[in-house]
Amino acid sequence: MTRFQEVKAQLVASPKKWLVTGCAGFIGSNLVETLLLLDQQVVGLDNFATGHQHNLDEVQGQVSKKQWQNFTFIEGDIRNSDDCSQAVGDSDSPVDYILHQAALGSVPRSIADPVLTNSANITGFLNMLVAARDAKVSSFVYAASSSTYGDHPALPKVEDTIGKPLSPYAVTKYVNELYADVFNRTYGLNTTGLRYFNVFGKRQDPDGAYAAVIPKWAAAMIENQDVSVNGDGETSRDFCFIENAVQANILAATSDENGKNQVYNVALGDRTSLNTLFNSLKNALKENGVSYDKSPQYRDFRAGDVRHSQADISKARTMIGFEPEYKIQQGIDKAMPWYIKFLSK
Ligand SMILES: NC(=O)c1ccc[n+]([C@@H]2O[C@H](COP(=O)([O-])OP(=O)(O)OC[C@H]3O[C@@H](n4cnc5c(N)ncnc54)[C@H](O)[C@@H]3O)[C@@H](O)[C@H]2O)c1
Repeated sequence: MTRFQEVKAQLVASPKKWLVTGCAGFIGSNLVETLLLLDQQVVGLDNFATGHQHNLDEVQGQVSKKQWQNFTFIEGDIRNSDDCSQAVGDSDSPVDYILHQAALGSVPRSIADPVLTNSANITGFLNMLVAARDAKVSSFVYAASSSTYGDHPALPKVEDTIGKPLSPYAVTKYVNELYADVFNRTYGLNTTGLRYFNVFGKRQDPDGAYAAVIPKWAAAMIENQDVSVNGDGETSRDFCFIENAVQANILAATSDENGKNQVYNVALGDRTSLNTLFNSLKNALKENGVSYDKSPQYRDFRAGDVRHSQADISKARTMIGFEPEYKIQQGIDKAMPWYIKFLSK
C-alpha cells in the first residue's frame, strides 16, 4: 500500500474539515472533487477572478448528493481579511487543513499588471496566513511555484538552490515562501509550500490571453487553428498531471511534523520539450478521432520564460511519501476527452 492509499483510507475512516481557496479554479476544483469523494467536509473560497461556476457545477456532477452536501461555498476575496476569517472559521471550530490555491497565475499577466498580481498573491496570501494563525489551524499548505528557481541554470531543480526571479509573478511566489517560513518561526503556524511545475488536466482554462500551454494548444488543435510556439520548440518543462498535484496536497496537509514547514517540488521529475508535447497532443487527439495536420508556428521567445525546467522530486518522495501516479502521456490521454467535450459544448 502506498502512503497516499494509507492516508486516503485514514481520511475516509476519520473525515476532516478542509478549506480550499481558489476552489472554482483548475487545481482548486480538482482538490474539492477528490476531497468530497473521500467524504471530507470542504469549505471553498473564490471570487471568480479566473475561476468559473461551471467548474463547481462539474464537481457537483462527479460526487454523490450526500457528498455535495459536505461542501460550503463562500464567494469572497482573499484581499479582504474578513472573507479569509469567515472561510477559516473561528478558533472554536476552525478547518483542520487549508489548501491555499487562490492567486493570479501567469507570468505575462504579472508583467502586464504587477500591482494586481501583487494584491492577490501577496496581500491575499498574508491575509490567509493571519486568518490561519488566529484560528490555530493545524496545517497551511499553499501553492508555491517552480518560477522561484528563476535564472538559476542547474537541472534538475533542487529545493535549496534558487536563482533570481524573472517576473513579478515569480517574486510574489517567492515572497509567499518567505512569509510562510516566518509565520512558522514567529507564530508556530505549520506551513508547507508546494512548488508546482506546469500542472495540467481537466478544468484548466483553455480561454484567454493567459491560458497555459496544454489547454491552449489542445483547444487550438480541436478547433483546427494554428498552434504558436514561443521560441524554437526545444524549450522544455516538467509537466505534472493534476492527480499528482492533488496527491501532494493531501500528503502535505496530513504529514507528520517532520514533513511540515518545508517547501517541496511537485512534478514528475521528467522533462518534455514543446515539440514533443505538440506531437503528444496531436496523437492523443487522433486516438479520440480528431486529426490535426497543421505544423507548429514558431515565433519569438517570450519575456520572463526560463529555457528548461525539470524537478528533482526526491525530497517530497522521502519526506511525505509522494509518488506521482501519472506520467505525462497518461495525463494527456486522460485530459484530452475532457477538452474535446468541453470545447464542443
Ligand atoms: N497551474 C499551474 O501549472 C501552476 C503552476 C505553479 C503554481 N500554480 C499556482 O497554483 C494555484 C492555482 O492555480 P490554477 O492553475 O488552478 O489557476 P486558476 O486561475 O484556475 O485558479 C485560481 C483560482 O483563484 C481564484 N482567485 C484569484 N484571485 C482571488 C482572490 N483575490 N480571492 C479569491 N479567489 C481568487 C480564481 O478565481 C481561481 O478560481 C495558484 O496559486 C497558482 O499561482 C499553478
